[in-house]
Amino acid sequence: MKTYKIAVYPGDGIGLEVTTEAVKAMQAAAVTGGFELDLTEFDWGHRYWKKTGQVVPEGYLDTLRGFQAVYLGAIGDPANLPDHVTIRPLIEMRQKFDQYACVRPAKLFPGVRTPLADKRPADIDLVVIRENSEGEYIDAGGFFKDTTPDGLALQTAVHTRKGVERILRFGFDLARKRPRQRLTLVTKSNALKYSMVFWDRVFDAVKGDYPDVTVDKCHVDAMCMALVQTPERYDVLVCSNMFGDLISDLTGAISGSIGLAPSANLNPERLFPSLFEPVHGSAPDIAGKGLANPLAAIRSAAMMLDFLGESQAATRIEQAVLNAVCERRVLTPDLGGTATTAQVGDDIARRL
Ligand code: IPM
Ligand code: MG
Repeated sequence: MKTYKIAVYPGDGIGLEVTTEAVKAMQAAAVTGGFELDLTEFDWGHRYWKKTGQVVPEGYLDTLRGFQAVYLGAIGDPANLPDHVTIRPLIEMRQKFDQYACVRPAKLFPGVRTPLADKRPADIDLVVIRENSEGEYIDAGGFFKDTTPDGLALQTAVHTRKGVERILRFGFDLARKRPRQRLTLVTKSNALKYSMVFWDRVFDAVKGDYPDVTVDKCHVDAMCMALVQTPERYDVLVCSNMFGDLISDLTGAISGSIGLAPSANLNPERLFPSLFEPVHGSAPDIAGKGLANPLAAIRSAAMMLDFLGESQAATRIEQAVLNAVCERRVLTPDLGGTATTAQVGDDIARRL
């Protein structure tokens, strides 16, 4: 039987709870799909730090290299450890495993209330493609005299032609396969006269290769406004790393609940394992209470199976989530229900 080796990194906070439910869903999908998942769980994050003083062991990337994918719950436990320490492995995995394409679909499901007045499911169905390997997230910068009144901090962003071109082409290839075949470059070339002007130039050079895709550009500030006012105009949005981070929280929110928003961090060439995680964070305020919505985590598991080549299993999970959301019987409080995290997970597993 076909077997996939998956590293499971539940992390911190609600990451633990939602991962348990995502594992139930992927295992159920594997049984019906006729394949096997060989899961290895790692207690990395705050729990590991308490034991060892480190968030992840030395050589953890070498350990992960032997897996076909990494499934991650959520990381961060700010009461115990600064976030920039706990989340470091996430950024490092994205960069060292060249997971340059971050894919964050945002879709309004029937029956889910969007905070936007008068918008219906057909109005919100887009995908944020976030450049995931460079930009503001490369570890280049420093402090100078930082504890004195003259203190300063430098954080340098890097945008390479290779990096920009490959994410644009990834976005175009996706836009081609979607019914509306539209792509919007999220830019800010009116103010950022090097980095974003460079993005615009690479975009202008590449777009001619995709005559079937309708394109436009939008500055990121105007994009925030447009996503609230006219989300129906957008299909695929290609963003630099930082802009994609911001825009994907917004698109998660307008789709009704960030508790539904999945994501994939892909190395499209498959030279390294790709990483799958919900868009939401570790939400320490609700951790351990059974309040977390596991559907984003479950949908991220579906994205993982799809990338591994089990597209039917992925579709079945998506359909189960859609049915559960439409029926409105077993949902967590963020979606207006009263069910616990585990009850939602059990319901999805049963459907599968
Ligand atoms: C995300 C998160 C991360 C990011 C954090 C946890 C570092 O916000 O995946 O969107 O900024 O990329
Ligand atoms: Mg974010």
